[in-house]
Amino acid sequence: MINFASDNYSGVHPRIMQALTAANTGCACAYGDDTYTADADAAFKALFGDDIASYVMVNGTGANVLGLAALMRPYHAVVCSEIAHINVDETGAPENVLGSKLLTVDSKDGKLTPKDVEQFLFAKGVVHHSQPKVISITQSTEYGAVYTPEEVKALGDFAREHDMYLHMDGARIANAAAALGVDVASFTRDAGVHVLSFGGTKNGMMFGEAVVFFDKKLAEGFEYLRKQNLQLLSKMRYASCQFVELLRDDLWLQTARNSNAMAKRLAEGLAGIPGVEICNKVDVNSVFAIISPEHQEELHKQFAFYEWNEATHEVRLVCSFDTTEQEVDSFIAAAKAICR
Ligand SMILES: Cc1ncc(COP(=O)(O)O)c(C=O)c1O
Repeated sequence: MINFASDNYSGVHPRIMQALTAANTGCACAYGDDTYTADADAAFKALFGDDIASYVMVNGTGANVLGLAALMRPYHAVVCSEIAHINVDETGAPENVLGSKLLTVDSKDGKLTPKDVEQFLFAKGVVHHSQPKVISITQSTEYGAVYTPEEVKALGDFAREHDMYLHMDGARIANAAAALGVDVASFTRDAGVHVLSFGGTKNGMMFGEAVVFFDKKLAEGFEYLRKQNLQLLSKMRYASCQFVELLRDDLWLQTARNSNAMAKRLAEGLAGIPGVEICNKVDVNSVFAIISPEHQEELHKQFAFYEWNEATHEVRLVCSFDTTEQEVDSFIAAAKAICR
């Protein structure tokens, strides 16, 4: 089965596997008091500047939920897109852990603008309403769209004007950075993001994500939140060593460049095939296309992929750090043969 289902169907990058093996010698202090975790923190500081705080987490849901928890009280609300991972793919964990409301905005490509958030401001100061406190955006979005640094900054400025915070789910931040070709700090810290979930698992790591605070005051007590909410890894060196390797020599960008390039190749090859309609502008590593259920069934005999929208038969095809040109070309050839 050839994988276009998700970037977390892929295995572990060989360099990450080597880093894990190298870390597996002797003992190391537990719970993050090890040199690998200190090196991971140094690697994040090299990307974002010294005045940050980074925390290695077990997974992306934990990183998102606790990054938000650091910014909120239960009577606060998070504004996010309807298709945000925190809204549709975390089994209600944000609502459960934060005790807070998510205020959602209809957005096909998953992007938000200040205007989208403005509609919720009427509730500010009204005791009967949840208080909009955090804007949460995903970079790149669940629909493969990318915010420019200016678009993030518009939201960062808006958040500050209205006493709110800006949170970024960066499960696929590498794909966004590779697509934009700019310094990662320019669309995070410099654009006014307060807290970032920095993804690793979708980009060649075995497991692990990180929460990065760009205002260290907001990180006060985060180590207790992380432990109380089941995200403190005991043998943390095994997650941290992966980040050290991923961030070494721009491996994280090389891997993302491959997944982005493979998605572009796939979209270009599929365009013009009768019976296949490309729906998105392919900037990162996912292609969304309408393919009839009968044709999907045939393609499923060789390829793993998901139907994104059952009503319209729009499928999502995701490329990974290890997707090859041959795999892409075999999907295109099969689609040519099947989708007539
Ligand atoms: C946009 C986004 N955020 C966060 C996550 C992280 O989720 P997990 O808790 O599975 O690591 C994912 C994974 O699918 C995702 O797509």
